Amino acid sequence: MRKAPFIFFLLCCVQLSYGQRTLTVQADKPVAEIAPTMWGIFFEDINFAADGGLYAELVKNRSFEFSMPMTGWKELKRGGSGKILIINLADKKPQNPRFANIKVDANGNYGITNEGFRGMGIKAGTYVFSIWARKTEGDVTMTVELASSSGKELAVGSLAVVSDEWKRYELALTATDTSLKGALNILFSGKGALDIDMLSLFPKNTWKGRPGGLRADLVQLLADMKPGFIRFPGGCIVEGRDLNNRYQWKQTVSAIEDRKLMINRWNTEFRHRLTPDYFQTFGLGFYEYFLLAEDLGAEPLPILNCGMACQYNTGEVVALNELGPYIQDALDLIEFANGDVTTHWGGLRAEMGHPQPFNLKYIGIGNEQWDEQYVERFIAFEKVLKKQYPHIKLVAGAGPSAEGPRFEYAWKEFSKLNVDLMDEHYYKEPAWFLKNAHRYDNYDRKGPKVFAGEYAAQSRGIASAENRNNWQCALSEAAFMTGLERNADLVVMSSYAPLFAHVDAWQWTPDLIWFDNLRAYGTPNYYVQKLFAVNKGTHAVPVTENGLALTGQDSVYASAVIDKTAKKVIVKIVNASAAPVSFLLNVQGVKGLKNEAIIDVLASDDRQAVNTLDDPKAIAPVEQAVTVKGKPVSIRPLSVNVITMSVQ
Ligand code: AHR
Repeated sequence: MRKAPFIFFLLCCVQLSYGQRTLTVQADKPVAEIAPTMWGIFFEDINFAADGGLYAELVKNRSFEFSMPMTGWKELKRGGSGKILIINLADKKPQNPRFANIKVDANGNYGITNEGFRGMGIKAGTYVFSIWARKTEGDVTMTVELASSSGKELAVGSLAVVSDEWKRYELALTATDTSLKGALNILFSGKGALDIDMLSLFPKNTWKGRPGGLRADLVQLLADMKPGFIRFPGGCIVEGRDLNNRYQWKQTVSAIEDRKLMINRWNTEFRHRLTPDYFQTFGLGFYEYFLLAEDLGAEPLPILNCGMACQYNTGEVVALNELGPYIQDALDLIEFANGDVTTHWGGLRAEMGHPQPFNLKYIGIGNEQWDEQYVERFIAFEKVLKKQYPHIKLVAGAGPSAEGPRFEYAWKEFSKLNVDLMDEHYYKEPAWFLKNAHRYDNYDRKGPKVFAGEYAAQSRGIASAENRNNWQCALSEAAFMTGLERNADLVVMSSYAPLFAHVDAWQWTPDLIWFDNLRAYGTPNYYVQKLFAVNKGTHAVPVTENGLALTGQDSVYASAVIDKTAKKVIVKIVNASAAPVSFLLNVQGVKGLKNEAIIDVLASDDRQAVNTLDDPKAIAPVEQAVTVKGKPVSIRPLSVNVITMSVQ
């Protein structure tokens, strides 16, 4: 009995000297430059990502333009009476035809209340209310109130509408308390009538304090990822269910009140998640997307409609000889982003507040389109765009699947054209991601570069409402991403999709970041993306065991980079097995590597574990110091590890 510990010690020594696994990192043998765009983000207005999400407007249906004009609004009577009439001036104001006429009688208060996006999230602090109004009769005073879900007054102020011409009025309100599902009440007193439109409420504390801007907490989560690019505005939203419903960037860059609202295609897409109150106001439009890209230090990557609607829906196409206006939209977009202020579209950019060009370098033509109709239309775009703007890189789509006849066809045809980038999408089960860490090892290096444009492991099945952002999914994505990094000569862009989801208003799961009206959290998948992006390095280098890359042998995956600027060697090890493992690190080709390194560990013992609003960091990276020279580094079961070694 007494001898057992000694025997155990001996066995451990034997294990250490004979069974110890070694990872060899050839830090002086870079195989590829890591593109600055390697890890980016995919934004689409799905799951209330824009209206009700990133776009910080708190009023839903601010200009009565939803199909049912009173969606989000209710009458409010506090001892008073009156009438609301919705007026439509479609011929005179096609961009924003409707407004409300409010008639009030002399007694008490009469008004309307707005419910926000599944409740109005109000935090203690300052808000800016604004409204377009004109007097039509008598004298009416307006009282504006922020209220909690129980009806408690959180802020109040008043406004006098003084003119019988349309005018914009603004009022600052300071909320004294917080409510997750509050409301905006607007009460009228006096006797008379007035017209009102564009009723709006924004927190003062938006991202960078921009009036009418973006939700600061959500942008911060994006900024923390240090994304190399931002793709916008989607996704299928680019295509539209029909061509009429396609995304048209020019509709999104005028004055806010002139941006013509449109139904959001996700409103009716999934029967199990119908969202009748989902529209696009385009308050977050192309100018704002470019600005966001600039703020994040990310390359803007707009995706444009190629003259085809969603092939899962109507599949409508524009006749080839009618494609001119679509191609012109692409040319004009380049002018809007990069053109001189003396040009029409460059001038508009300057007028909107950004005389400096946005330096657009990439455009995607079409999203998930397929077959010869797509190739023909792409060719028509390419001919014109490459002639006028040879330096703008064009992205072609490989269709909705990661393999199969449509995928093969797209690759064959677009390789002949030698397009700049191919956009591949994979929404697959975790096992697929684990099996595909070597997917790109044998791709043709002379063909187009790869943009892994949309991917996410699906715990139950594609578009299933049961999908969860659980640890097993995140772990499998990390394993797969080591394969992207190892093939950084070919894969130059990648992004998880979709990005955002409102906990009460989503259509599609899983998603990278979840939020309610007050809070937000990153999923385990978010932390995987962030770990890779903030540790992207400058060059991929080989990391091997017994001369072989680690692509899932014993469920272990690895990739390595060096950062020539920061003088670092960074090794990523994913252990997808339930057993611990340890590795001696044999880093070759660098002098003066410090013995003390940093290891960021993202791990959970439970494959089903998730983060939540109440426990947002249940799974989040933990940073530790680790000794790397002559001592094996222990790797936890079910873990993603980033080991950063510095050179003195
Ligand atoms: O990310 C959600 C959807 O999945 C995208 O809109 C589409 O491109 C893909 O099918």
